[in-house]
Amino acid sequence: MNKKETDRAQFATRLGVIATTVGSAVGLGNIWRFPYEAGNNGGGAFLLFYILFILILGIPVVCAEFAIGRAGRSNIFGSLKKLGGSGAWRFVGYIGIVASLMILSFYSVVAGWTLEYFVQSVRGALAEAQDYHVRFESFASGWRCVFWTVAFLLVNFLIVKRGVQRGVERMSNIMMPALFLILIVFCINSLLMPGAGEGVRFLFSPDFSKITWEVVGNALGQAFFSLSLGLGCMLTYASYFSQKTRIIRSATTTAALDTLVAIMSGVMIFPAIYTFGMSTDQSGPALVFEVLPNIFQQMTAGPVWSALFFFMLFLASVTSTISMSEISISFFAEQWKLSRGKACWINLLIALTFGVLCALSFGPLSSLDMFSIFNNATSNVLLPLGGMLLSIFAGWVLDRKVLRAQLTNGGPHRKMAWHLVVFCIKYVAPAGLAVILVMSLT
Ligand code: TRP
Repeated sequence: MNKKETDRAQFATRLGVIATTVGSAVGLGNIWRFPYEAGNNGGGAFLLFYILFILILGIPVVCAEFAIGRAGRSNIFGSLKKLGGSGAWRFVGYIGIVASLMILSFYSVVAGWTLEYFVQSVRGALAEAQDYHVRFESFASGWRCVFWTVAFLLVNFLIVKRGVQRGVERMSNIMMPALFLILIVFCINSLLMPGAGEGVRFLFSPDFSKITWEVVGNALGQAFFSLSLGLGCMLTYASYFSQKTRIIRSATTTAALDTLVAIMSGVMIFPAIYTFGMSTDQSGPALVFEVLPNIFQQMTAGPVWSALFFFMLFLASVTSTISMSEISISFFAEQWKLSRGKACWINLLIALTFGVLCALSFGPLSSLDMFSIFNNATSNVLLPLGGMLLSIFAGWVLDRKVLRAQLTNGGPHRKMAWHLVVFCIKYVAPAGLAVILVMSLT
C-alpha cells in the first residue's frame, strides 16, 4: 500500500461505521418520502414489496458497494478503475456523480422545509389552529422556501468542508439514537388516536388488487433511495472502513434500522391521516408537512415536541446530505486532483443552482417542476440502474478472491450468509433489477 492510501481517513470505531451508514440511510427518505409513497401506492401492498426488495436486492447491493469501496479505497471512479473496470465502467461513475447532485438539489428543498417548520414551531406560529394544507402551499410557493434551501446547503457545505471523520462521526453518534427515541413517543401517541385501526390496517394489510408494475417500481425506487444505494454512496463510505469492519453484518444492521425507522414513520402518520379525515394519496411530497402539525397540535406541550421533531429531522437530513455530497466531493478531489476545499465549493455551486430551481418548482417554476423530475428520475431509474451495474461489477468483474476476502474479512467462508449474498449479487440483483426497471418504465 502506498503512503497516500494508508493516509486516507478511516472511521475510528465500529459504532462509528454503523452510525455513519445509518446516518446516511436514515433521513427524509424514511420520514418524508416513505409515507407519501406508501400512501400513493396502496399502503400494505407497497410495504410488502418494499420489504421484499430490501431483503433480496437492497442488502446484497449494499454488500456489493461495501466490497468494492473497501477493496478500491477510493471514490466510485477510482475504485472501479483500480479493481479492473475498463473504460466503459466510467459510465457508472458518471451516473453516481450526476444523480447524487440531482438528489442533493431536491433533497435540500425538503430539508429547508424542516428548517422553516422548526423555526415556526419555536415561534409558536405552527401551533395556531389553521388549514395546514393552505399554509404549506403558501410557504412552499414563496421566496422563504428558496431562502431555506440556500441556508440548508450552506450548513451542509460548512460541515463537509471540515472533513470526513470529525464532522460526520461525532454528530450522528448522538443524534440518531435521539431521533429514534422521539419517534417511539410519536408512534405511541398515534396508536392512541381514534383512526389508529384504519391507519394500521392501511399500512400493514396488503390489498393485492393494488399491485401494478408501477407500484412495484416505486417500491424498488424507495428501497434504493432509503438505503442510499446505487450511486456509490455506500461505496464511498466503505472506502473509509477499516479492514476489521464486517461487511455483511454492517449491511444487515443498516438495512434493519433503516426499515424500522420507515415503518415507524408510517405508524406515526397513517393513524393521524384517518383521525384528521385527510386522504392518504392526495398531498404527495407535502403529506408529512400537512399531517404532522395536526398531530402536534393535539399533543400536550405540542410546540416543544414539534420543535424537537423538526430539529431532529433536519439533523437526520444533514447526515444524509453529507453522504451524498461525499460522492461528488471525493470524485472532484481525487480524480480531478483538487483540494478538498475546492471540491466542496464545486459541489456547493452546482447544488445551489439546481436546488434553487427545485425550490421554485412549487411556485414560479411549477410548469417545469424540476423537483418532481429529479425526485422521480433518480429513484425510479438512476438508482436501480446504478445498483444493477454495481452488482454486476462486484459479481462478475471483481476478482472472486477479492470479493470473498471483502465479504468474509479473509476468514472462513463456508457460512450460509456468504453464499446467499454472493448468489444475490451475481444473479438475483442484476436480473431482478433489470426486469423491474424495464417493466415499470414501459
Ligand atoms: N437514504 C437517504 C434518505 O433516506 C438519502 C440518501 C443519502 C441517498 N445518500 C444517498 C439516496 C445516496 C440515494 C443515494 O433520506
